[in-house]
Amino acid sequence: MADGRISGKISGRIAIVTGGASGIGKATAELFAREGAKVVIGDLASSEGEKVAKEIGGTFVATDVREAKAVEKLVKTACDKHGALDIMFNNAGFGVTAPLVETSDQLYLDTIKVDLDGVFWGLRYAGRVMVSQKRGAIVNTASVAGIRGSVGLSAYNAAKHGVVGLTKAAALEFAPAGVRVNCVCPGVIDTPLVARAFGSSEEARERMHRAHPLGRMGLPIDIAKGVLFLASDDASFVTGHELVIDGGMCAAPGTGGRVLDD
Ligand SMILES: NC(=O)c1ccc[n+]([C@@H]2O[C@H](COP(=O)([O-])OP(=O)(O)OC[C@H]3O[C@@H](n4cnc5c(N)ncnc54)[C@H](O)[C@@H]3O)[C@@H](O)[C@H]2O)c1
Repeated sequence: MADGRISGKISGRIAIVTGGASGIGKATAELFAREGAKVVIGDLASSEGEKVAKEIGGTFVATDVREAKAVEKLVKTACDKHGALDIMFNNAGFGVTAPLVETSDQLYLDTIKVDLDGVFWGLRYAGRVMVSQKRGAIVNTASVAGIRGSVGLSAYNAAKHGVVGLTKAAALEFAPAGVRVNCVCPGVIDTPLVARAFGSSEEARERMHRAHPLGRMGLPIDIAKGVLFLASDDASFVTGHELVIDGGMCAAPGTGGRVLDD
């Protein structure tokens, strides 16, 4: 499937995308809509989220994924509006670099709340609906930081390793109902999150490109295509899997645990 062409793989499916106002979530919401899905975006950023939802003919629900009740409301809104839930993309997140010994209580707790708790609530509420429907696919956004350590990202590492573990646990529990659960592990993807975490100067961007054997940072659409695969019936025998989409970053040994070389 080339960009812009419709494969029909998820035509008519009901999909929730958290963090759909920006970056990877936005690219995925757009791709899902192009593929014929009815998309419900949940995000903290209301004006950007409303704008994306309007552009793709979807729905926006103001959602703070740190709050279980907010995620419950997001799932309920999608089900009330469309009568079912086929795809849940638990993607909202953020990352800030800090040495472990200088990581504040607030940064540690907030990272866990958004990046890990938010995924747990999404699994719990989407899982309840999908298990009772006996169909559905859930994709979580982990990271290469969910499968290896990174200098300066300890709280993020803890949360993202948790997402990989949760993915496997939920996959096992939901498998008897035919509900699949997988995650994606992106390398460094060119989004506002990365510009905030690592800088946006030419030099910073060059280091981010160099960190990937394929010679470039990833684009949000590179991840969206992996999410589409996992969410579609093409992946009907894939569950409990972490799909690494990182331009070869994890295949390169000897980085000393640094996300970027010095
Ligand atoms: N960009 C990368 O290099 C990269 C690499 C690996 C993993 N990730 C993960 O990908 C996901 C998306 O990141 P991105 O790079 O697209 O970032 P982004 O900043 O472009 O988008 C993140 C979105 O999540 C939303 N969000 C943040 N906190 C929220 C909350 N509490 N409740 C609801 N929405 C919230 C933001 O408003 C934003 O729209 C995150 O989970 C991130 O950890 C990103």
